Amino acid sequence: MFSADEIRKDFPVLERKIDGRPLIYLDNAATSQMPLQVMEALESQYRFHNANVHRGIHTLSNESTKALEDARRTAAAFIGALPEEIVFTSGTTDSVNMLAAAFREKMTGKDNVVVTVMEHHSNFVPWQMLCRHTGAEFRVCPLTDTGETDLKALKNLVDKNTRVVAAAQVGNVLGTINPVQEIAEISHAAGAFCAVDGAQGVRHGVTDVKKMNCDFYSFSGHKMLGPAGIGVLYGRKEIFDTFTPQRYGGGMVDTVTAAGTTFLESPAGWEAGTPNYPGAIGLAAAMDYLTGLGREEIAAREEMLCRMLAEGLSAAEGVTILGKPAKRTGAVSFVMEGIHPYDAAALLDKLGIAVRSGTHCAQPLLASLGLEHTLRVSPAFYNTEEEIERFFKGLEKIRSILQ
Ligand code: ALA
Repeated sequence: MFSADEIRKDFPVLERKIDGRPLIYLDNAATSQMPLQVMEALESQYRFHNANVHRGIHTLSNESTKALEDARRTAAAFIGALPEEIVFTSGTTDSVNMLAAAFREKMTGKDNVVVTVMEHHSNFVPWQMLCRHTGAEFRVCPLTDTGETDLKALKNLVDKNTRVVAAAQVGNVLGTINPVQEIAEISHAAGAFCAVDGAQGVRHGVTDVKKMNCDFYSFSGHKMLGPAGIGVLYGRKEIFDTFTPQRYGGGMVDTVTAAGTTFLESPAGWEAGTPNYPGAIGLAAAMDYLTGLGREEIAAREEMLCRMLAEGLSAAEGVTILGKPAKRTGAVSFVMEGIHPYDAAALLDKLGIAVRSGTHCAQPLLASLGLEHTLRVSPAFYNTEEEIERFFKGLEKIRSILQ
């Protein structure tokens, strides 16, 4: 197992002070921090190799194209996919929007789409809009009292008219690890596709899309140590090309005439315009970094930090933790009696502690819990046990000030 104290040296921002106090960064579910190795990969691309990809035959263009395609191979290996199943997008939101739009021509008013109530807006609204545009029914699966997807309810909601079931691998508010393999099984048994939002799941351990048996999988670079503005849409090869690309322009066409246009197969057919090749190169460097540390080790450490947070928060006075899933990682949300989450987050910031407050882009989930806002603390493997202890002390301090 790597030492958190050792690897923190790779993350310069963690040395920052906020109002003279050492930064304790516990907002990793929103954006994780970037190690030097990723910054160096980005710098090297811009400094030595930069040119457009798939469009020139000069040396720099060939080097950049090779680096992009190497990054695609790295991303494929990272999630157990084939390189031709990896489309680079600008992030999870972009991936899901593109996918939902592609479903339009496959659906009629008789169909339905099922999502869970724990979904982030980016895996909720695009499907809801798809239903609005096609007249299909939008179905939302509830959670159990512990904050887990109610699989019994899901089985009742998914029927022969379900075209797609969309679910998060890990919930961004409660940190629930979803049984995605089972969700895929339920979807396929009814003849529906299963689309998994991996934004919160991909960093926390080993993801194998073939084992998971999902048809589509989306994730973002900035939540897994990579740059912002890059992400991936994985689509199972044999079905990806039965969908029509939704973005048009250079790089994705086969022939173009006034009479009509034919498109390239995925992934090229889904990457219109100049792709974010530096982002993809940075993302691959982030994946190499995570693989180098050991993804099982990362998963074990992040689950341990979440357990430590959940136990400490359960014991804290006036604090209610949301959800009690059997398997949790990445995030723990809570409310404090008599204290508005924004006030708490603002005061914690004065102590150098960064947490997220608000709706967490998950209004349907919060409404189902009867809440408008919560506090969310989301550790990463580079956080230390000492930081978590200092967070508990900070919480106690702000409670005594605000209550
Ligand atoms: N999706 C990010 C979060 O949950 C922004 O905070």
